[in-house]
Amino acid sequence: MLAAYHEAFGPELAAMIRSVPARPGPGRNAVRILDVACGDATYARLWSEQLGVASEIVALDLSRAWLASAAEQIVDRPIALCQAKVDALPFADGAFDVAWCPQSLYSLPDMQACLNEMVRVVRSEGIVALVENDELHHILLPWPIDVELHLRAAEWKAFRQQHGPPSRFYVGRWLTRLLRTAGLRHVRERCYASVRQQPLTPPTSKYLTEYLRALRARVTPHLKPRMARRLAELADPDHRRFLLRRPDLTVICLDRLVTGVKP
Ligand SMILES: C[S@@+](CC[C@H](N)C(=O)[O-])C[C@H]1O[C@@H](n2cnc3c(N)ncnc32)[C@H](O)[C@@H]1O
Repeated sequence: MLAAYHEAFGPELAAMIRSVPARPGPGRNAVRILDVACGDATYARLWSEQLGVASEIVALDLSRAWLASAAEQIVDRPIALCQAKVDALPFADGAFDVAWCPQSLYSLPDMQACLNEMVRVVRSEGIVALVENDELHHILLPWPIDVELHLRAAEWKAFRQQHGPPSRFYVGRWLTRLLRTAGLRHVRERCYASVRQQPLTPPTSKYLTEYLRALRARVTPHLKPRMARRLAELADPDHRRFLLRRPDLTVICLDRLVTGVKP
């Protein structure tokens, strides 16, 4: 699903990276980037493609499985891989010019502690950049309004039941506050709206079909039977009411990029 997402929204993700003013520290030619919780290192690769030889990139993740898939992705790129926890980064203070953490903060154990670690390993005047979204306003589809209101309320209940306080799934709306609390200055937010219409490309179709499947599985136990039936039709690729079949379909994906500068 993540791979399909990267492919579906690749141009916008690359634009996010281009918008981060990454500069080498004093007396150096290469920009030092830390890709925090890198997953399959798609972003580390995009950084490498953008900066070329003028970069020293480390992609870090806790999971061996993700790092194995990252190793395949960066085989022809001079990117170092590192297995470590975000809340105990194995780097000296000020070691990087940019700490880049996309679509991961919400999944980390103590978000503020992890953010503080990112700030620690960035040099003075360096940048911490986060990409996150807010489940209420991430994938905008032309749902019947009553279905959408019920399913978002059910999703909140599902998150709460499975994960405790659900606020981390809506973290996009609090990113600027988190960065300020971590002591960063010049905190700036940009929103990237990726708009897709018919015909959907295969990666976009794959991502959205999987998104709808996962959403339906998550919320159905928290919906009344009639609403669950309506959602089942709208999210079922084999049903004539399947949302993604609509000839007039417009899908908007909202991602927030928030950056802050270390004093
Ligand atoms: C949703 S994935 C996003 C990966 C990548 N940033 C991307 O957008 O493609 C979240 C990643 O966080 C990693 N992760 C979760 N907890 C972590 C921790 N405490 N320290 C380091 N990585 C962690 C997972 O292994 C996973 O690769």
